[in-house]
Amino acid sequence: MSQDNIFSLQGKSILVSGASSGIGKVIAVSLSRQGANVLVTGRNEQRLMETARKLEGSGHSVIIADITRAYDLEKISDKVTQLDGVVFCAGIIDYMIAKNIDMNSLDEIMTVNFKSQIALYQKLHQNKKLNKNASLVFISSLAAISAVPATLAYAASKAAVNSSVRILAAELAKSKIRVNSISPGLIESPLLQNSVLERESIQTSFSKYPLGPGKEEDVANTAVFLLSDASRWITGTTIIVDGGYMLNN
Ligand SMILES: NC(=O)c1ccc[n+]([C@@H]2O[C@H](COP(=O)([O-])OP(=O)(O)OC[C@H]3O[C@@H](n4cnc5c(N)ncnc54)[C@H](OP(=O)(O)O)[C@@H]3O)[C@@H](O)[C@H]2O)c1
Repeated sequence: MSQDNIFSLQGKSILVSGASSGIGKVIAVSLSRQGANVLVTGRNEQRLMETARKLEGSGHSVIIADITRAYDLEKISDKVTQLDGVVFCAGIIDYMIAKNIDMNSLDEIMTVNFKSQIALYQKLHQNKKLNKNASLVFISSLAAISAVPATLAYAASKAAVNSSVRILAAELAKSKIRVNSISPGLIESPLLQNSVLERESIQTSFSKYPLGPGKEEDVANTAVFLLSDASRWITGTTIIVDGGYMLNN
């Protein structure tokens, strides 16, 4: 391992799902700045191309795909080279109080946020696309361990991710593949801007963060660390990135 810059991603190929927007987009750009060859995926071609234009360096790839479709997962796996890292960032949110949750919405959230992530991992593993020493990073959420009303479906989907990370880490350690998740608190991304939450309630929520509102870059920097050799002895864990929110909650 070179000690020159152990946070460097030079020479690593890394797939980022959910790269057409918000946190995934900033992660993809940050990885390219550290020298990675980045493969970005998402459904919206126009926004994905916008991400691709912001990537530094050359040789990056764009894969238009809906991770809930088996055919598209096959397409992702076919198009990727051997991978040194994957960021599972695609996700959706819906706010519903428990007594009103309709089962279709629950299914949709569990499918996008949990089942499709596992299906993508399986496809890459089956097709031997994950290099020895690869690092898998799942973008979870602080919601999984907090108790905010109307987030049951979302929180449960992210709790499933956190549990899966520990199991995957145990299963893959023999291949020296590391598996971790990042649990961000509230980040001002399109996910939040397009949600049903009122501006005022978002501001009230941000006031509960001792270090102030979080940025997409805060999550991206943590992802860079987890994908780099600097974190070579870290696996099966969830890193909370929340500006101190949990100190008071
Ligand atoms: N923002 C926050 O406060 C916050 C906090 C904690 C955790 N997170 C997590 O961070 C991740 C990114 O969130 P964000 O805030 O960046 O949201 P965002 O801006 O809405 O981005 C969501 C991304 O997920 C992709 N996506 C959704 N459904 C998909 C599907 N079926 N197939 C493929 N891609 C799909 C979207 O792609 P298309 O638009 O191309 O469909 C988009 O790139 C999510 O997992 C979210 O749960 C967010």
